[in-house]
Amino acid sequence: MERPLFSSCLLVLLLLLFKSLSLDWAWTTPDCTIGDSYLLSNISFYIPFCSLAPGLHLFASCSNVNDLTWTLTALPRRLEALCLQGRVPVLPADVFGRFPTLKLLRLQLGSIRITSGAFQGLNQLQHLFFDYPTPCCLSLLLPPDVLKPLRSLSSLSFQGYCLNSSQNIQLPVSLRHLTLSHSCLTELQELRKLFPSLEPSSPPVANSSLWFPFLEVLDLSANRQLSRAGVKALHGLQLHSLKLDGTPLSTLELLGSGLLHMNSLSLVNTGAKKLPEHVTAYFELHSLDLGNNQIQNIGNDDLSGCHSLEHLNLHANGLCSLPTRFLSALPLLQRLNLSMNKLGPTLAIPEVLVSSNLKVLDLSHNGLSALHSGAFFSLPQLQELWLSGNNISNLSSDVLEGLTWLKTLDLSWNQIKVLERGWLSSLPALTSLNLLGTQIEYFSGHSLQGPQKLSHLWLGSLQPMELYPPWPLTLLSLEVWAESYIQFSVPYGEPFLFLQNLTLQTNFVLLHSRNTTLHFPSLRHLTLRGCSSSVFSNSQPQNFFPQLPFLEHLHFWSDHDGTKGLQLFGMPNLRVLELGDLDSLYESSPTNLEVPLKALPKLEVLALSNLNFRNLSASSFRGLRQLQMLLLNSEWSLRLDSSLQELIPQMPQYVYFSDVIFKCQCESSWVGSWATRAPNTFVYGLEKSICMANASDFSKTPFLSFFSGHCPDNLELQGFLASFTVVLLLIIFALLGCPKWPWLHHLWTLFLAWWWKLGGWYHRSQYHYDVFISCCGQDRAWVLAELIPALEKPLPAGEGLRICLPERDFGVGQDRVDTMAASMESSRTTLCVLSRQALNSSWCNLELRVATYYLVTKPRTFHLLLLFLEPIDRQQLHSYHRLARWLQKEDYLDFPQGRAEWETFWEQLRRRLWETVQERED
Ligand SMILES: *[C@@H]1O[C@H](CO)[C@@H](O)[C@H](O)[C@H]1NC(C)=O
Ligand SMILES: *[C@@H]1O[C@H](CO)[C@@H](O)[C@H](O)[C@H]1NC(C)=O
Ligand SMILES: *[C@@H]1O[C@H](CO)[C@@H](O)[C@H](O)[C@H]1NC(C)=O
Ligand SMILES: *[C@@H]1O[C@H](CO)[C@@H](O)[C@H](O)[C@H]1NC(C)=O
Ligand SMILES: *[C@@H]1O[C@H](CO)[C@@H](O)[C@H](O)[C@H]1NC(C)=O
Ligand SMILES: *[C@@H]1O[C@H](CO)[C@@H](O)[C@H](O)[C@H]1NC(C)=O
Ligand SMILES: *[C@@H]1O[C@H](CO)[C@@H](O)[C@H](O)[C@H]1NC(C)=O
Repeated sequence: MERPLFSSCLLVLLLLLFKSLSLDWAWTTPDCTIGDSYLLSNISFYIPFCSLAPGLHLFASCSNVNDLTWTLTALPRRLEALCLQGRVPVLPADVFGRFPTLKLLRLQLGSIRITSGAFQGLNQLQHLFFDYPTPCCLSLLLPPDVLKPLRSLSSLSFQGYCLNSSQNIQLPVSLRHLTLSHSCLTELQELRKLFPSLEPSSPPVANSSLWFPFLEVLDLSANRQLSRAGVKALHGLQLHSLKLDGTPLSTLELLGSGLLHMNSLSLVNTGAKKLPEHVTAYFELHSLDLGNNQIQNIGNDDLSGCHSLEHLNLHANGLCSLPTRFLSALPLLQRLNLSMNKLGPTLAIPEVLVSSNLKVLDLSHNGLSALHSGAFFSLPQLQELWLSGNNISNLSSDVLEGLTWLKTLDLSWNQIKVLERGWLSSLPALTSLNLLGTQIEYFSGHSLQGPQKLSHLWLGSLQPMELYPPWPLTLLSLEVWAESYIQFSVPYGEPFLFLQNLTLQTNFVLLHSRNTTLHFPSLRHLTLRGCSSSVFSNSQPQNFFPQLPFLEHLHFWSDHDGTKGLQLFGMPNLRVLELGDLDSLYESSPTNLEVPLKALPKLEVLALSNLNFRNLSASSFRGLRQLQMLLLNSEWSLRLDSSLQELIPQMPQYVYFSDVIFKCQCESSWVGSWATRAPNTFVYGLEKSICMANASDFSKTPFLSFFSGHCPDNLELQGFLASFTVVLLLIIFALLGCPKWPWLHHLWTLFLAWWWKLGGWYHRSQYHYDVFISCCGQDRAWVLAELIPALEKPLPAGEGLRICLPERDFGVGQDRVDTMAASMESSRTTLCVLSRQALNSSWCNLELRVATYYLVTKPRTFHLLLLFLEPIDRQQLHSYHRLARWLQKEDYLDFPQGRAEWETFWEQLRRRLWETVQERED
């Protein structure tokens, strides 16, 4: 007897616990942003959050944190990335234990004391960052064993922190990237004291396949006092890559540091004037980054030790020429970055004796204008050639001769006006061609002949542009920018058969021939920037996008000419829709999205920016059953219509308001309770929003506090609070009284109720009453004398319905609001008796509102009947519009004025009550 009791008790408790845990998934968390970067990868454009590692979905980013435990309890447990900014003095033990799936943690918490168990339980954590945004430095004391639980940690970064008071910090063996930047290191030697495990336990071996321990990257950038290495400072350390960007450490110091292996060295912005050939030769470096230095000249002699280099970056050095032996001295070179130098206007690629291995050459921003024929003949292996931002006006096929393997050619932002026919004929392998920022006015597909696999094309002109077929069949992605308009000339309606991504940036998109349409049968992503909405208009003769059967993403930034004619038909598979700048500069009429959104059944993400919406009502969103994210950005004087409440049960999982000013209106008072307790929705951006009463109201009233100050009858919130309290109390009682049978029984009932609710229907035994009767004091006499007897009397005189009448059935001392809300919920049907007096009574109105709340939040399981004792204009009902949407005609009952008809009325009422009772049982 004892055991089953105990175990079922435990089971119920566990289930209750589970219920409360599953509830904690998402609602407004002050100062935190929660989102899923899978839904809208570009969401950081609208709302603040910290940078993420690729592939992480669910993130939370909190700012102004000062009570860490409190902030963390409001966050969902399955977070993958968490960024915290604020002031927290201590990081207590096991503080992140609730988030076992956390993979990235970024802490910007100022001066902080970290206890040694702080990262317990984070055995999936891969990235840990400590950031302090100002240059240098805050002291940080790290206990030696604090990183021990982080068994998967691969990158660890300290920025703006001084670690010199810590020592013997044990690094997890999985660690690959260690960053200590903007710190107060003065000598490399200090690293050994900090991280003794950087030193190998066994004597170092020269055999490179036995590297241990292996840090891939050690980043010591921006340590402005790091000028010495110290004797044998990095004795035995084997690295893949060392970054010393912005440090004054002389590379000669590295030679004596005891560092054994290093492949790659980054010395960006160190003021270097010469190639560091000694260190290159010593380590036989594969990769050397010397960007943003002052290496203006390179002599043939400087290259003698550099033969091992595969990657060399000389970006922004003021380099004027390359030595004649450059390519011969670097026989293994594969990537050479010479962007932002002064190698123009003519360039002579140095000769090579044997053929060069160079695969990537960046000559962007060098003032090149004339390239002689066969300029790249000595680079037969070249796969990428970057020539952006030069002064090239003419490129003929003989300049590009010999580039048989070239895949990427970037000629953007040059002075190109015309393209010769066949200019690409010597590039059979070309897949990606960038011609943005040209002066081309007429572009014909004929000029793309030669490449067999051209798949990515960027075309842009500072003029209007006309495009002529044939389009290459292999084209997968096309981006066209032009001043004022882009005209597609398609005499025979040639389709873009395999095109998946199309981006157009211009004011007008035109079709030359008015009786053809352009077809994009495979299009998946469409981005339009600055275009007039007429591109989607059905009434125009040139309906540009008639059918886009596979389109999944549409990003449409208009040019402020309103939504007139915007019709998004023929996109049955659209998942993500971003609309921006659809407000009209000429008309002040608000945007209406009801029509455009009607035909998008699969929409998951809707981001709306600067639309001049004015009124957000349920009608726009009714058909969007799969919506998971709704974002409103940059709106002014936005009204949240009370009809939106009916959407609450199916509100998207994420609702964001960014840069929105609301209209101060009591009609929106439901927002307060919804936003702070939205059961399935994370709401961002209401906490700090302000509202305006009218156009000249500059008082900056906080939106949410407006309701409490100006809308004293905020009864819906009270109703909600009441039911919330009841649930809480029940759980507490359950915990207190568990070992006793009656409570166990009660808990079981509660569990069943929850279980059936989960399945969408209720079990009969959950209901204490069949009918909850709401009436005001003045009508009570009538209810007791006439209504109750007609319903409650046992058969045959009455129907035997179990009735709850608050005044009669509530116990003495019970809180009336709580009990009312709970009784209403545990009754099959609520019957509101309405008279003029009732409508003036605040108590009756409260009951009606609570009932409406249940009606909206539990449309399938809650029933409401309205009984009018006298003729009343239904528009006078509070929340009339909402009721009108959820109630059927039979749910309004008018009590007949003549006594003769009473009997028929009772008959009718009883039938209707039984119907609702049975509906709830099915
Ligand atoms: C993000 O969206 C904005 C507005 O649509 C756009 O300007 C920006 O280029 C986008 N960024 C990325 C990375 O897509
Ligand atoms: C740590 O470095 C800072 C700045 O260089 C210095 O002021 C401080 O005295 C050092 N502390 C210890 C314990 O070495
Ligand atoms: C390095 O070690 C590997 C594996 O132990 C061995 O096969 C190889 O011959 C060694 N190379 C040298 C140069 O000792
Ligand atoms: C060349 O270096 C600059 C600066 O580091 C970088 O922005 C650019 O992408 C590099 N070019 C290539 C082709 O990698
Ligand atoms: C670009 O080249 C043209 C000749 O093709 C020349 O007149 C002009 O000065 C050059 N501009 C720059 C900025 O070098
Ligand atoms: C199309 O664009 C999306 C999003 O920018 C990108 O992920 C995808 O790779 C692109 N597809 C092609 C074929 O370029
Ligand atoms: C429409 O195109 C057909 C040929 O496809 C042509 O004969 C006809 O004249 C065109 N009509 C108009 C109104 O341009």
